[in-house]
Amino acid sequence: MNYKNKMLRDDALKGKTIVVTGGGSGLGKAMTTYFLELGANVVITSRNIEKLETVKTELETQTGGKVLAVQCDVRHYDQVEALVKASVETFGKIDVLLNNAAGNFISPTERLSANAFDTIIDIVLKGTKNCTLAFGKHWIAENETEKVVLNIVTTYAWTGSAYVVPSATAKAGVLAMTRSLAVEWAKYGMRFNAIAPGPFPTKGAWDRLLPGDLKEKFDLSKKVPLKRVGEHQELANLAAYLVSEFSAYVNGEVITIDGGEWLKGAGQMNLLEDVPKEMWDMLEMMIRAKKNQ
Ligand code: HXC
Ligand code: NAP
Repeated sequence: MNYKNKMLRDDALKGKTIVVTGGGSGLGKAMTTYFLELGANVVITSRNIEKLETVKTELETQTGGKVLAVQCDVRHYDQVEALVKASVETFGKIDVLLNNAAGNFISPTERLSANAFDTIIDIVLKGTKNCTLAFGKHWIAENETEKVVLNIVTTYAWTGSAYVVPSATAKAGVLAMTRSLAVEWAKYGMRFNAIAPGPFPTKGAWDRLLPGDLKEKFDLSKKVPLKRVGEHQELANLAAYLVSEFSAYVNGEVITIDGGEWLKGAGQMNLLEDVPKEMWDMLEMMIRAKKNQ
């Protein structure tokens, strides 16, 4: 057994309906696949309905599960309300909202137009707000409990990051929303948690964050103390746990899954990792020699 294996028992999500925004590609598709394997019905949603229908057919054949594909731009509240309606009409109820859809690209901030900045804020922060509000209001109105909202953020939600400032700003807002509603809406039987992934190669992210030969220039695995990037299944394992009843007492938490990447960047003396082992005798001698000077 290792991190590439599937973690939960086969029926862990049986009977649950899970809505995954951005479920037709990358990490959203990986999490959707595993939820289906664990017995859930999954609603996948994004702007591109052709892509979603293709993924629906592929995943239903692969897993034997049930998928509903719904076109929805999370920037528009009316489309999100229609998503709630379509999900309930098909599956009777919704148990989990996974806010995974995102937009991002690297750019010096002074090159961004006001609309470029807004576009990222609108997809990530406003989109998560739209879904959270529409689904939350629905659950409250229907008096339904044992609901879960899981938000995908990033580790720069708390450190910030140059060159992806709209994304960092928006993800920080999503993190604040997660923690705030974990307290406020617990009384309605909702839990709110977040996952902060480190580098997990996907086409969507790599095309926009590491275009051209940046992939070779900035080998992200070298920034990770564990010296590798993430495997989609290990993220899916964590997400499945957090949306399942096994995590019933976990609320308001953000779980980092990054091999130690952000801490390596943060620790002031972490760069001493580059000092060769054989130099430490000499360095220790030099430090000790200064004791009484
Ligand atoms: C500067 C840019 C730009 C760029 C677009 N714009 N690309 N500005 N540099 N590279 C500007 C446009 O000129 C326009 O402003 C505004 O942004 C909106 O662009 P549109 O193309 O009209 O927007 P839209 O069609 O809505 O597409 C949204 C998008 C696109 C974000 C620009 O990339 C997209 O659809 N992304 C979805 C998937 C995605 O981004 N996945 C990556 C997630 S990775 P003007 O002023 O001209 O109108 C992720 C990882 C986090 O989040 C952490 C990793 C470690
Ligand atoms: P991705 O494949 O590009 O996923 C983004 C998804 O969001 C796409 O399916 C896209 O579908 C959807 N989307 C974008 N704009 C939308 C909108 N307005 N309305 C509805 N859906 C929209 O990239 P990914 O790497 O899997 O990213 C998934 C999540 O993980 C994101 O939240 C990202 O910030 C986070 N993350 C990723 C990494 C990583 O290393 N990959 C690291 C940290 C965090 P359409 O284009 O069809 O709309």
